[in-house]
Amino acid sequence: MSTYKIASFFSGCGGMDLGTEGGFEFLGKKYTRLKTQTVFATDFDKDVCEIYNLNFKNKCLQADIRDIASSDVPDHDILTGGFPCQSFSVVAQNPKRLGYDDEKGKLFFEMCRVLKDKKPKAFVAENVKGLLSANKGETFPLILQEFENAGYHVSYQVMNASHFGVPQKRERVFIVGFRDKKASENFSFPTGTLKENLTPIKDILEDEIDEKYYFSERAVEGMKKSKNSKTMNKGRAQNINEPCNTVTSHLAKVSLNSTDPVLFEKDRYRMFTPREVARIQSFPENFKLLDGKGKNYRALGNAVAPVVMWHMTKNITKALEY
Ligand SMILES: C[S@@+](CC[C@H](N)C(=O)[O-])C[C@H]1O[C@@H](n2cnc3c(N)ncnc32)[C@H](O)[C@@H]1O
Repeated sequence: MSTYKIASFFSGCGGMDLGTEGGFEFLGKKYTRLKTQTVFATDFDKDVCEIYNLNFKNKCLQADIRDIASSDVPDHDILTGGFPCQSFSVVAQNPKRLGYDDEKGKLFFEMCRVLKDKKPKAFVAENVKGLLSANKGETFPLILQEFENAGYHVSYQVMNASHFGVPQKRERVFIVGFRDKKASENFSFPTGTLKENLTPIKDILEDEIDEKYYFSERAVEGMKKSKNSKTMNKGRAQNINEPCNTVTSHLAKVSLNSTDPVLFEKDRYRMFTPREVARIQSFPENFKLLDGKGKNYRALGNAVAPVVMWHMTKNITKALEY
């Protein structure tokens, strides 16, 4: 059986990469080491690279993806990337095509560029579920088309992390492509096995919480007076008997008037600690974080849940082996 070489773009702190590698434990369950080897990881953000480099043998190259020539990316079998999707424009031609006029929207094409040049056996891209409905649903088929134009048989699915034992109702779209038609036919998206037995937040809470994670009385009063307080579900306090609502990088700016999940415990409101957010995302206990809050929240909130990616990678490598 082969070892599959992985190249990772937009690597962040490495949620996706931990999933593609495996060899970690989460809530007492072992996620075995997969037959993969990460040969390249890159992100342009200094802080996420720092977290990544604390945790992985293969180091994250800090660079803008637009400055990396395809020839600088080592040969690999699977390309992975949660490409940023802030904006795409659709050019009204016949047929319509994705616009190239926006800087951030361009990043997706960087994955296509390297797929065309390096021709790995497979790729997996991850994004927010909203990508499906962006630009009134016009963007997503064009993204699939671009991946097909790069030479891949493409399929996609929305996956809910909570169905895989992750204590979070995170829904993300995964796009998977294979160069080989037969491998593509062999592939099926992993189906969650734990829909009847979801992991509740109470399983991942820390016992000792530093005072800095509690909101001040003033913040609570402000939230209660705000005309949004009812619709805001009281600072989005989570039911600890259920998986958490989705955590995002916005946690770095969490307030009682934001839509980020918070906790109401012992008559007080508090934010999740970075370690709790890491657990909500299914990172193992030995995953190292930086000191402080903001940098960790941003990196963890952006990450792909490692457990979901582990299941995905198992199915991709299985499809390639025939
Ligand atoms: C959604 S996050 C990816 C998270 C990662 N897949 C994980 O699982 O931890 C997107 C990443 O793209 C990076 N990024 C955005 N623009 C970039 C660029 N031009 N070049 C390189 N990285 C970029 C951001 O710094 C961010 O870490």
